[in-house]
Amino acid sequence: MANIVVVGTQWGDEGKGKVVDLLSESAGYIVRFQGGNNAGHTLVVENKKFILHLIPSGILHTNRTCCIGNGVVVDPGVLLGEIDKLRSHQLQVGPDNLVISGQAHVIMPYHRELDNARELRKGKGKIGTTGRGIGPCYEDKASRVGIRMHELIDPSLFTAKLKVNLEEKNFFLEIFFGVKPLDYNQIADEYLAYGEKLRPYVANVSELLDRARRQEKNILFEGAQGTHLDVDHGTYPFVTSSNAVAGGACCGAGVGPSHIDKVIGICKAYTTRVGGGPFPTELNDSIGQHLQREGAEFGSTTGRPRRCGWLDMVVLRNAARLNGLNSLAITKLDVLTGLDQVRIATSYVHQASAMEVFPNECFTLESCEPSYKDFPGWSEDISGARNFSDLPVKTQRYLRAIEELSEIPLSIISVGPGREQTIMLRNPFEG
Ligand code: GDP
Ligand code: IMO
Ligand code: MG
Repeated sequence: MANIVVVGTQWGDEGKGKVVDLLSESAGYIVRFQGGNNAGHTLVVENKKFILHLIPSGILHTNRTCCIGNGVVVDPGVLLGEIDKLRSHQLQVGPDNLVISGQAHVIMPYHRELDNARELRKGKGKIGTTGRGIGPCYEDKASRVGIRMHELIDPSLFTAKLKVNLEEKNFFLEIFFGVKPLDYNQIADEYLAYGEKLRPYVANVSELLDRARRQEKNILFEGAQGTHLDVDHGTYPFVTSSNAVAGGACCGAGVGPSHIDKVIGICKAYTTRVGGGPFPTELNDSIGQHLQREGAEFGSTTGRPRRCGWLDMVVLRNAARLNGLNSLAITKLDVLTGLDQVRIATSYVHQASAMEVFPNECFTLESCEPSYKDFPGWSEDISGARNFSDLPVKTQRYLRAIEELSEIPLSIISVGPGREQTIMLRNPFEG
């Protein structure tokens, strides 16, 4: 038995969905513990593509329980849409295999309005949020005025809270941001109907996971976003509003740290970022265009083009420390095929001095220049490789360099979006 946390090591979109789907084969329970529908996790199985925003990436497997933990912020309209979409593909989704924590906070229409109004007001300095109301919903949680799933499914509690909250939010929307206030009756009607539909799914996830653990079931925790979008440890303020690091799994699912056995870091073979904020290895040239084109680097949630750059060891070592990584899954290795040379940033130069450790302040990172180690590229198609030895020697050398420079062993190598396009060096559930 093992309980494993999967986290993104960079700025999100590392391929967490693909790896979680793959590892779900060995897990009984798959748990989202933070973030909301700012996430877009892509699964490609038998040439069919599924993009999940809230439902854990284990849902394509039968006889698994998918959980949405207390740390997640749930947009009920989006969740119901996602359930319907999966059902339209003849997949079974219901209270038997999807459980939502009663303590998870609900994203309300005023959260989305505030998110967008605030970004608009910031103008050039905007964060580049997904506009899904994530930040304002977590603000309400911290301010102790948020509406939780157990209140959404209780009409009298819900309407009372909505009335009080809407009064304050409309004041901000109308007076401060100068946008149209929202209508109480419209929100109440819409959300009471959501509550009716979602009532059977709401339960105590922490208690459910404790029972699963006692029955020696494997539990897989699915991180969203990435280490450098973490609200504490990321490139603040260009971050999301939750703890995307592995420690977030404990708080966001109601599981004690002594019950986590392993942490796997998902790392793209290069780097991408969506939205604003510093990105030392960013490439605004034909190589950046190669990565974007070959990697189809467009956001799974908003469709925005992702900024692309070289792999950054300063970033990866930071992720190794913050998450306590036991192993790495390297994804999208195939995207580097065809480049004459591949580079890895091994340190930064800041004000003429070498910097080995990722800086905690955004303004320092903005003026860091990466120092690179260069490796010869390869031109062979590697998307059919299923064993390490199937890879060209130059590709093997690049992977070994990642392992040596990060000091973290590799467990999985992904060479294409499909579930089967994977080299499993060692299954994390099997020792
Ligand atoms: P997540 O948010 O971390 O789950 O990642 P996304 O799903 O947002 O973005 C990863 C994208 O890369 C998706 O379109 C995946 O289908 C795709 N992908 C995952 N692994 C690989 C890989 O090894 N090679 C290629 N070419 N695409 C991959
Ligand atoms: P997955 O789980 C990549 C980014 C947004 C923005 C910042 C804050 O698919 O890896 P938010 O809407 O959360 O307030 O936006 O965080 N962001 C992501 N970038 N992948 C994600 O999720 C992201 N979720 C949020 O682009 O820069
Ligand atoms: Mg994504």
